[in-house]
Amino acid sequence: MKKATVFERTRISTEKIAVAKWACGIEWSAIQEMMWIGSRPGVLSLALGLPEIEFFPAKEYAKAVERVLENDPLAMQYGVPFEPLKSHVVTLMGQRGVECNERQIFLTTGAQQGMALLSHLLLDHGGAVICEETIYTGFQQAIQPFNPRILCVSTSLDDGMDSEAVESILASGARPAFIYVIPDGHNPMGVSLSGDKREQLVRVAQHYAIPLIEDDPYGFLNYEAEALRPLRSLDDEMVFYIGSFSKILAPGLRVGWIVAPEAMIPKIAIVKEAVDINTATFTQRTISAYLDTGHSFGHISFLREQYKLRRDAMINALQAHLADAARWRIPTSGFFVWVELLNRVNMRELLKSAVEIENVAFIPGQAFCVNGAADSKGIRLNFSYCSIDRIEEGIARLARVIKNGTHH
Ligand SMILES: Cc1ncc(COP(=O)(O)O)c(C=O)c1O
Repeated sequence: MKKATVFERTRISTEKIAVAKWACGIEWSAIQEMMWIGSRPGVLSLALGLPEIEFFPAKEYAKAVERVLENDPLAMQYGVPFEPLKSHVVTLMGQRGVECNERQIFLTTGAQQGMALLSHLLLDHGGAVICEETIYTGFQQAIQPFNPRILCVSTSLDDGMDSEAVESILASGARPAFIYVIPDGHNPMGVSLSGDKREQLVRVAQHYAIPLIEDDPYGFLNYEAEALRPLRSLDDEMVFYIGSFSKILAPGLRVGWIVAPEAMIPKIAIVKEAVDINTATFTQRTISAYLDTGHSFGHISFLREQYKLRRDAMINALQAHLADAARWRIPTSGFFVWVELLNRVNMRELLKSAVEIENVAFIPGQAFCVNGAADSKGIRLNFSYCSIDRIEEGIARLARVIKNGTHH
């Protein structure tokens, strides 16, 4: 088995075993490679989208675990979805301006599973989907087994997915299984969708009866006074909203949710049963017990404040070190700043130099391109995982590599 080299799309050899046709195309992903590079001692990683470990509310969560273990004999049994947790999700959604009820909530093993389940539900083999050409790789992996036709639209760094292009594709007769959109804190481009575009996407989804999958793990982490509402607040028939506890509590718990049209819930339940029977009973009940205390409301505000400080530190460091070599926008939500270099560079060489000479890692934008486009000048930088000092140090190192010029 050939190991990945620094950011190279490499097929994974399976030697003598004949895997399914779609699985022949599985390549090492840049994200997996970054996990591996980022875990090397000394590497300062601005690459992955991890939350800060110190922000996990471990003490309060430990108390919830203790309470559940003492009082809830069903917590370690197989189980049906835990209704009190659904009620908490309804309350959380209310804070985002979405009205929904428990019958529309489906609990998942993270947002990632939400995407996979909805792909199974909606997408035929060889069917079409609409998404942006630079998009979260986990989504690309979720649809890959279906060998889909991907109808790509571009992303504006000012206001997100090109909703006009989505409308044109549908007006020209295409009937995709769904449209995939990340409304806030886009991964990887950091942008949030404007209000007009939210409305246009919902309007065209309704007009052409095409479901919208709204993937929103970052929506609770907005850094401005006024947050826009999710698309699900505009429609409850065509929008499947995907939420997650990963960024507002802890990703290791692996719990998320779908807010779906009610009639779809029984079908999603059957799809899920085939995958993992049910979302871990113990985790559902401990998250619910943690939420019972009301601690999460203050905790989410705390996360907003802290991540905003880190965002600002990264923007200030970029301004200090890279103002003459790159451009960026200030993200209003999420974990990422998308930086576009003014000069065309060989990204692979740049990343190699960054890791080998300066011990700093980032993810080249092309790792997120649906069609593997090789000429992206963008790089994705994460500001959630490192302390402010480390962010400043990381940008200074990155600037040295970008400016030294051996990768042109
Ligand atoms: C856009 C997007 N969707 C989904 C996920 C997966 O989230 P979860 O941990 O809830 O599976 C991520 C994780 O980084 C993400 O960035």
